[in-house]
Amino acid sequence: MSTPFQLSAENQERFKIIIGRYPNRRAAMLPILHLIQEQQGYISPEAEEYAARELEVPVVEVREVVSFYSMLSTAPPGRHHIKVCNSLSCWVCGSSGITEHLRKRLGVEPGETTSDGEISWEVVPDCLGACELAPMIQLDGINQGLLTPEKLDALLAEICPALLNHKKGDQ
Ligand code: FES
Repeated sequence: MSTPFQLSAENQERFKIIIGRYPNRRAAMLPILHLIQEQQGYISPEAEEYAARELEVPVVEVREVVSFYSMLSTAPPGRHHIKVCNSLSCWVCGSSGITEHLRKRLGVEPGETTSDGEISWEVVPDCLGACELAPMIQLDGINQGLLTPEKLDALLAEICPALLNHKKGDQ
């Protein structure tokens, strides 16, 4: 039997503060799901049940919200995690090309993890604070910018050489 999800003591305090900002518990669903994802790295079925209980909504409603927003993930993060900035400067400088290249290389959608558990990725709408590097990503929390598909391949080769070997015929 799976272990029920529980927020840490610190996050329980943050939960109370977030709930206090909204007219009712249901309205706080998105920030609460972000809080859960921050703690767990993703949103497990047990965490969905926890959110439903605490927010006093049916669990199916929580599932709908989780599956609607690409920044909420239902899969455990990979050993390496990539965030693609899709805010204005990065978008103007070609973040969609970076996203397409990653989709092709990794073979999974944003919010998912490669089948070997190595790499997970997401596209984030908020500026990651390094517009001078646009288009940029964060790889394991480190900014990597002025990206081209070739530069991206070099970064992927460093963290997961097998990935590019598999995809060589697929340029
Ligand atoms: Fe991408 Fe600012 S818009 S880092």
